Amino acid sequence: MTIERIVKTEEDMLALGKRIAERLDRHGFIALYGDLGAGKTVFARGVAQSFGVDHVSSPTFTIVCEYPTEPKLYHFDAYRLSDADELYAIGYEDYLKERSLILMEWANLVESALPNERLDVSIVGSGMDARTVRIVPHGTRTEEIFHEDSCI
Ligand SMILES: Nc1ncnc2c1ncn2[C@@H]1O[C@H](COP(=O)(O)OP(=O)(O)OP(=O)(O)O)[C@@H](O)[C@H]1O
Ligand SMILES: [Mg+2]
Repeated sequence: MTIERIVKTEEDMLALGKRIAERLDRHGFIALYGDLGAGKTVFARGVAQSFGVDHVSSPTFTIVCEYPTEPKLYHFDAYRLSDADELYAIGYEDYLKERSLILMEWANLVESALPNERLDVSIVGSGMDARTVRIVPHGTRTEEIFHEDSCI
């Protein structure tokens, strides 16, 4: 099942990220897909807004940014990883066990490390063009939240 949305502006992308985080009750796993400049970090900033976090920097050089929210917010970026093992080396498994919200930019680069219960969010488009966002839920809980006619 795929939910598709056209997102015309950065503000609308922020709002979409915020709504989706709230719909997930701010815990779960969101895998973000899309090329350079697609809007993954903008979406992540929207998610962070639902936690009251205003300043989100890209974790490209640090692998993960942690926010001391309740639940915790973990923002990963797999762009510079050579493979999923580098995630496990920094204790990825422990992050997954927590009741937290995890965002993974460049999820396609660490496909084997993605949990079965997750929301895939793919963003297509660049520059100032409108983006096409495809949302695909996986796993019992996430599928229940994002069913066919859920309005997001
Ligand atoms: N509709 C839109 N949705 C999201 N971003 C948009 C939109 N229109 C324009 N933009 C711009 O596109 C850029 C998206 O950048 P962003 O850093 O979020 O991309 P990214 O997918 O995280 O790239 P990277 O892989 O380099 O981390 C921002 O500069 C934003 O202002
Ligand atoms: Mg980014």
